[in-house]
Amino acid sequence: MEPLDLPTLPEPYRIKAVERIRRTTRGERERLLADAGYNVFALRSDDVYVDLLTDSGVGAMSDRQWSALMAGDESYAGARSFARFEEAVRRLLGFPRVIPTHQGRGAEHVLCAALVNAGDVIPGNAHFDTTKAHIEHRGGVALDVTIDEASKPQSRHPFKGNVDVAKLRAALREHQGKVPFVLVTVTCNTVGGQPVSLANLREVRAACDDARVPLMLDIARYAENSLFIKRREHPEMGVREIARATMDLADAVTMSAKKDAYVNIGGFLALRSEALFEKVAPYAVLYEGFLTYGGLAGRDLEAMAVGLEEGLDEDTLAHRIGQVHGLGRGLEAAGIPVLTPYGGHAIYVDAAAFLPHLRREQFPAQALVAELYLEGGVRAVEVGAVMAGRDPATGKHRFPDLELVRLAVPRRTYTQAHLDHVVRTAKAVWERRSKVKGVAFARETPILRHFTSTFARTE
Ligand code: F0G
Repeated sequence: MEPLDLPTLPEPYRIKAVERIRRTTRGERERLLADAGYNVFALRSDDVYVDLLTDSGVGAMSDRQWSALMAGDESYAGARSFARFEEAVRRLLGFPRVIPTHQGRGAEHVLCAALVNAGDVIPGNAHFDTTKAHIEHRGGVALDVTIDEASKPQSRHPFKGNVDVAKLRAALREHQGKVPFVLVTVTCNTVGGQPVSLANLREVRAACDDARVPLMLDIARYAENSLFIKRREHPEMGVREIARATMDLADAVTMSAKKDAYVNIGGFLALRSEALFEKVAPYAVLYEGFLTYGGLAGRDLEAMAVGLEEGLDEDTLAHRIGQVHGLGRGLEAAGIPVLTPYGGHAIYVDAAAFLPHLRREQFPAQALVAELYLEGGVRAVEVGAVMAGRDPATGKHRFPDLELVRLAVPRRTYTQAHLDHVVRTAKAVWERRSKVKGVAFARETPILRHFTSTFARTE
C-alpha cells in the first residue's frame, strides 16, 4: 500500500517580502507567560517565535493576490470585483450563486438563520465549534455521525473524516421531518484535519436523496481534501477535477476562505438552486451586508478570486501537506505520540500519552501548550478538556475522548528550519516530561473558556 504521508518537498515559490520575528529568552518567556495567566491566547504575537496557533487567515498572500488588491472596486453595489469573484466560484466550484461573507462563521450564521429551527437535527462529521455553536444558537442539535475510527488515535484509516452512513441513515429515519440539511466538513478539522473520501460523499448524497434532505458541505479545506483523494483514492483524477466532483454532490457550501483560498479575511456561501438563494439572501443582507460585498472590501473579493485559483494548484498543495507531514515525522522520530495518519493542516500531539503522570483534571494539553512556549517560543493550541468546557446540565468538566495539542501550520509562511525548531522544542520538553506540572484554573470564564481563562501551575 502507498504510504499515507506525503514527502517534504522544496517550496514551489521564492520569498519576496519578509516579516521580522524575534526570539525571546527563557527568562522573558517565563515572565510573559505568567503575565498571560498561562494562557497563550493572552500573549502578544510579537512575543511568539513560531506561531502554530492556527492556519486560518495567517498565511502569506502571493504577489498576484497583492496586485489584485489594487484593482479592488469599492462600489457598494454591483462592484466589478464581485463579478470577478463570482466568475471564479462558478468556474472552479460550479455553483451559479455565491454570497460573500466576512468569514466562515458569517456564512454559517446566514445558513442557520434561514434554515435551522428549534428542535431541528443536523447530522454531520464532527461539526466545527463555530458551526455547532450556530446550530445550537438556533435551538438545533449538531449530531455527530463520524465513523468510529475517527476517535482511535492509532487507527490508520485513510479517510478518518468519513461519515458512518448507517448512523446517518438511522438519524435521517429517526428525525424525519426535523432535518433541514446534512453537513459534511472537508477535511474534518475536529477529528484532526482528516479527509473524507469521494466514495463516502457519494453514499452520503444517496442517503440525503432517499430522505429528500439537502447536503451542505463546509469546504474550508476542500483543496487539501482533494489532494488526499488524489493520493489515496483517485490517482487518475486531477485535483481540480476532484474538487469539482466534490462540489457537484452538494446543494450548497459554506467556506472560510481564510484557509484554502489563501486570504487573511473572507468567506462565502455558494448555492445551486435559486429557491435556496431566495431563502438565505435576506439574512445575508441583514447580518453581513449587501449581496455583492458581504462584509468585505472589494479588494478582499479580488484577493479571494485569485486565492481560490492558487489554492487548487497541485504543487502548492503537495508542498503544503508535505510540510505538515514532515513536522509529524520529526515529532514521531523523537518518540512523541501524535495522531495518525497526519492531517492536512496540522499535527495533533496526544497530550494524555505525552504526560501520563497528569490526571485529566490537571489539563495535560493546556500544560503542554505552556511548556512548548516556555521551551522555544512556540505557540500551539489546546484541543482537550479546557476547550470542551463544562456540561451545561451537570456543571462538571467535559473530558473528551482525546486530550490533544494542535500544531497548525500557516500556509506559505514558515520554512523547514522553523519547523525543525518546533521539533527540537517539543523534543526538549519530551525529555523532561516527567517533571512537567499540571495546571488548574486561576479564573475560569463562563463562555468559550479556553480563550479567556487564566491558569496556575499545580504540584
Ligand atoms: N469550518 C471549519 C472546518 C473551520 O476550521 C473553521 C475555522 C470555520 C469553519 C470557521 O471559519 O474562522 O473563518 O469563521 N477554523 C479556525 C481554526 C478558526 O483555527 O481551525 P472562520
